[in-house]
Amino acid sequence: MNKILKLIQLILLIVVASKTVSQPSPDCPKSCGNLNIPYPFGTRDGCYMNDTFLVTCNHDSSMSIPLLGTNNILVLNISLEAGEVIVSSPVIRDCHGTESKNSNDQNGLNLTHFSISPSRNKFTAVGCDTVGVFIGYDSSRKHVTTRGCVSMCDTLGEIRNGSCDGIGCCQIGVPDGVYGFAMQSWSISNNSTIRDFNPCNYAFTLAEGYYNFETANLKSLENPRLPLVLDWAVGNQTCEEAQQNPKKLCVQG
Ligand SMILES: *[C@@H]1O[C@H](CO)[C@@H](O)[C@H](O)[C@H]1NC(C)=O
Ligand SMILES: *[C@@H]1O[C@H](CO)[C@@H](O)[C@H](O)[C@H]1NC(C)=O
Ligand SMILES: *[C@@H]1O[C@H](CO)[C@@H](O)[C@H](O)[C@H]1NC(C)=O
Ligand SMILES: *[C@@H]1O[C@H](CO)[C@@H](O)[C@H](O)[C@H]1NC(C)=O
Ligand SMILES: *[C@@H]1O[C@H](CO)[C@@H](O)[C@H](O)[C@H]1NC(C)=O
Ligand SMILES: *[C@@H]1O[C@H](CO)[C@@H](O)[C@H](O)[C@H]1NC(C)=O
Ligand SMILES: *[C@@H]1O[C@H](CO)[C@@H](O)[C@H](O)[C@H]1NC(C)=O
Repeated sequence: MNKILKLIQLILLIVVASKTVSQPSPDCPKSCGNLNIPYPFGTRDGCYMNDTFLVTCNHDSSMSIPLLGTNNILVLNISLEAGEVIVSSPVIRDCHGTESKNSNDQNGLNLTHFSISPSRNKFTAVGCDTVGVFIGYDSSRKHVTTRGCVSMCDTLGEIRNGSCDGIGCCQIGVPDGVYGFAMQSWSISNNSTIRDFNPCNYAFTLAEGYYNFETANLKSLENPRLPLVLDWAVGNQTCEEAQQNPKKLCVQG
């Protein structure tokens, strides 16, 4: 009888233990290069809450490179307060068929547990006879939306720096429920007159307020490190709350 009780106790213990989120051990790395990595994110087994929050810290000769999960997406910042992860966003470039793309270039990205923040990001296209298209996917990569904008201009004189209202630059919002996207861009006409000051079309999706369009971008937009804001939460808690009491609050996750 006693043995059976012990056995039941043991089983109960195992069930409870497996449901309880393990606290990160004190010797877990707290950063990767300049990036702070707060729990529930972590770089090693036992340091993150579950696979979703794994940040792989790759070291090359000169620096540490934090990558989100298995997605190979560069992490720029993590905010517990806002429930946001800032990652590096891809830029696509179309040079009227005259310049071949780097084969490593992605035309978008796909995530499963982090959504593209609809309030913080904008799809942007830059060029003077340019169509930019944003195709959004949900967390199982099913199509959610296709939307786009058109940007035109005849001369540089009409450009207003800082304004993405369809003259040299256009912007549109990202809808709710988008976990991944692909982007396309092409020229409306192959007009050599504008080609002199606008050899390429560009499109990218990035955090509002981080890109300031200016005339020089029509000539060349160096592959900048553009920030994209991803939303995340643990269950219905922000992870700041979760971090304060991970045992209690993160169990249902
Ligand atoms: C990262 O986020 C923290 C707080 O959310 C902020 O204080 C810090 O300035 C950010 N760092 C960078 C490099 O943006
Ligand atoms: C994202 O998912 C879509 C839909 O399955 C796919 O067409 C696209 O190539 C994916 N993009 C990346 C960068 O994996
Ligand atoms: C090319 O652009 C110039 C200047 O905007 C315009 O006058 C001309 O009609 C355009 N040509 C074509 C073929 O679109
Ligand atoms: C546009 O013009 C470039 C340069 O003259 C040429 O190589 C390219 O094939 C043209 N593209 C189209 C779609 O006509
Ligand atoms: C717009 O920005 C460009 C640099 O991209 C600068 O040369 C130009 O003077 C600016 N125009 C105005 C009106 O400020
Ligand atoms: C979170 O979810 C739990 C149950 O799933 C619910 O009781 C609680 O009110 C929710 N909290 C918030 C802040 O929505
Ligand atoms: C990890 O936890 C998050 C938040 O609770 C949950 O949404 C996600 O499904 C979990 N991921 C895995 C791989 O268990």
